[in-house]
Amino acid sequence: MAEKKRFQAIKGTRDLLPPETELWNRVEATAREVFGTYGFGEIRPPIFEPTELFARAVGGETDIVSKEMYSFPDHSLWDLEGQRTYILLARPDAGNPNSVQLFVSALDKFIDQLANAASSREIPATSDNDRGFERLRAGSDRISSFLVPHATNLLDQFDLTVGHIQQAAALIKLGDLVSLRPEATASVCRAYIEHNMNQWPQPVKLYYLGPMFRRERPQKGRYRQFYQIGAEVLEREVAGGEGRVASKELEKDAAVDAEVIEMVMTFFDRLKLPGTQLDINSIGHNAPECRRGYVEKLRGALLEVKEQLGEDSRRRIETNPLRVLDSKLEHEQAIIAALPKIGDCLCDDCAKHYAEVKRQLGLRGIPYKENWRLVRGLDYYMRTTFEITAKGLGSQNAVCGGGRYDGLVELLGGPATKGIGFAIGEDRLVLSLQEAAKEVASGEWGVASEKGACDVYIAWMGQKTQETAIKAAQMLRGAGLRVELPAMEQKFGKALGQADRLGARHALILGEDEVASGLWTLKKLADGTQEKVAAGDVVKRVKESKSLRVRPHP
Ligand code: HAM
Repeated sequence: MAEKKRFQAIKGTRDLLPPETELWNRVEATAREVFGTYGFGEIRPPIFEPTELFARAVGGETDIVSKEMYSFPDHSLWDLEGQRTYILLARPDAGNPNSVQLFVSALDKFIDQLANAASSREIPATSDNDRGFERLRAGSDRISSFLVPHATNLLDQFDLTVGHIQQAAALIKLGDLVSLRPEATASVCRAYIEHNMNQWPQPVKLYYLGPMFRRERPQKGRYRQFYQIGAEVLEREVAGGEGRVASKELEKDAAVDAEVIEMVMTFFDRLKLPGTQLDINSIGHNAPECRRGYVEKLRGALLEVKEQLGEDSRRRIETNPLRVLDSKLEHEQAIIAALPKIGDCLCDDCAKHYAEVKRQLGLRGIPYKENWRLVRGLDYYMRTTFEITAKGLGSQNAVCGGGRYDGLVELLGGPATKGIGFAIGEDRLVLSLQEAAKEVASGEWGVASEKGACDVYIAWMGQKTQETAIKAAQMLRGAGLRVELPAMEQKFGKALGQADRLGARHALILGEDEVASGLWTLKKLADGTQEKVAAGDVVKRVKESKSLRVRPHP
């Protein structure tokens, strides 16, 4: 008999269960409502995309792309994949003709099937594949000559040939590499290009909700499948803007940035998320007189203190000095505080844009804190970057991150386009709301989660009563009330106990008397009072009743 296996959710993933999912739904409904008032429409991009899209947009050197993506080749040529694995792992022995024969047969079979798959276009026709195929054929010719016994001084040649064959086999791409999306900005830009959204009325304002995937070390507030609520504003760039036009464009961009930030803050306010803090920065643009100049200056300053830095920061001096500013290491903090600041190295336009963003936030009454170390971990940002932290989250306290990314659409092969957006970590947002509700027992979310509780529990007794109970349930549900109708009759005492456990607000008691008289018994479970109500008035009475029960956590 097969061994019984208890399956569990994969590390870093989890089931979201009721009643918590009600809070998720409320959060999502509020996002749709608030974002709708700012003119945003929903986009639902696919969950997987070409790996290359994320590599180009987010950056090949970033942690997200280099270590955290779930990627796999998109093909169903498992037979070929199996043969390739055999070739890659084989260690044929030149002194043993049988072993050489096995290897040669496997290789020839692989080459034959590969040729078939290529002619039926089942594998991508890339120059790498052409090259790999040629090398495999050449390798096959060479290795066959070892089927006759050789002088031992040729053994080195044999191993070398096997090595070349294995390299060539590894080079063959059986399918395109795809990845589960680690974020959605790249997908939105891809969709903007694919659907010619530059022809739509500008700017195009889109929001999305859904799961993202990153292979990070799981901890509180950090998961491998997590959920984001994000929004992006994309706008065709006006050609040849100089002088006054360019200056007006900068002002307009700054107003858009501030409005996007205002929208997130309004959303958080609407949810009554306590203790939020908005940090903002400008990281300039990628030019020698702006960010590139700063990065060189920073690198120089970091080299001077290299010996005092930890291993990660030392490596980043070469790969990405800006990321050193993200360091959380205690002993690096004082060193970092003394480094040159990007604000002193911005070009005129970026400085003007940043000043205007701050002015615009002021106009909108949004408090912010400037944080020159806020550089963010994705490559596509320019000018504005921002992050919002919330309470009750421990070290993973960033509940939202975003920024401007002019040029990203162009980098992905589209027209010159400006962009700004953000993504909220929904798991963290919900966690923070739950923490807040714990502090204030009767807080917004304490009550909100009650909304899922049962409005009416129908306690029915007697076979003849069942039909009336079913009709009553249909009528109450038709009026939008939440109703529990037990599948079997229950003694009234047991039924009331069950109603209580479910946190029901009312029990509708139906016995033979009630059915006969048409006067039903409605019991308020909060205070135990009960009354007889005409069948036609039950919906009205339940809706009028304001009694709320606290629903015990299952
Ligand atoms: P991000 O900073 O990588 O930005 O992610 C945004 C938010 O997603 C974070 O602040 C955090 O709340 C949440 N988050 C990220 N990783 C995890 C995780 N492993 N577990 C739980 N929550 C997580 C972006 O993704 C950009 N696409 C934001 C953006 C949109 N920028 C412009 N437009």
